[in-house]
Amino acid sequence: MEIKAKNIGVAIKGKTIFNNVSFEIKSNEMVAITGASGSGKTTLLNCLGLIQTISSGNILINDKNVTKWNDKQKTKFWHEHATFIYQDYGIIEDETVSYNVTFNKRQSRDKDVNEILKNVGLDGRGKELASVLSGGEKQRLGVARSIFKNANVIYADEPTASLDAKNRQLVIDLLKRRVQSGATVILATHDERLVKECDKIIDLSKFETILNKG
Ligand SMILES: Nc1ncnc2c1ncn2[C@@H]1O[C@H](COP(=O)(O)OP(=O)(O)O)[C@@H](O)[C@H]1O
Ligand SMILES: [Mg+2]
Repeated sequence: MEIKAKNIGVAIKGKTIFNNVSFEIKSNEMVAITGASGSGKTTLLNCLGLIQTISSGNILINDKNVTKWNDKQKTKFWHEHATFIYQDYGIIEDETVSYNVTFNKRQSRDKDVNEILKNVGLDGRGKELASVLSGGEKQRLGVARSIFKNANVIYADEPTASLDAKNRQLVIDLLKRRVQSGATVILATHDERLVKECDKIIDLSKFETILNKG
């Protein structure tokens, strides 16, 4: 999916978080939103995911202006196209790990779900309650969900924050594979190792977009 921000700004309780930010994200791109702690990375990610409303400017998805979309339109977008990998968001603690991957929405065989869990290093954990997972395991459960859903756009907030070197590389490789199969991946991160794998960087400290490659 193509996502465009045109002069967008957010002010919360009179305080400007960021202002006049413009950029373009294309399909098949992995994009990093970077900047110091408190610079507005999570806020910008939430705006692009239509979770948070912007105070000024416009957001376009596939050239459609979505700035004034109502709840029904947003819900349809989240349902059909988006997944969110947030450590403390969207995991249903008192359901099993498997349920959290599939939401039982599709007839899915245990074997397929376990194959995905294996990919994220959660082999054989499907029947456990999500509440027993560590922060890092929940991050990877979020990745498993996005693989299962085959989402067009993946929003991830600090997806490598709680991961050791091995699992960090695992998550990076999985996200890159999703990009290769056509997804757009948008990450808020200050992990330099993840940033350098991205095609584009939106740096909120400098208010500029840097093309890494191509
Ligand atoms: N709901 C909110 N109410 C008040 N201030 C907020 C709210 N959400 C974010 N902020 C403020 O906006 C700034 C950016 O926050 P955030 O987007 O979480 O930054 P980052 O993810 O880069 O660390 C911070 O100063 C934070 O305190
Ligand atoms: Mg943040």
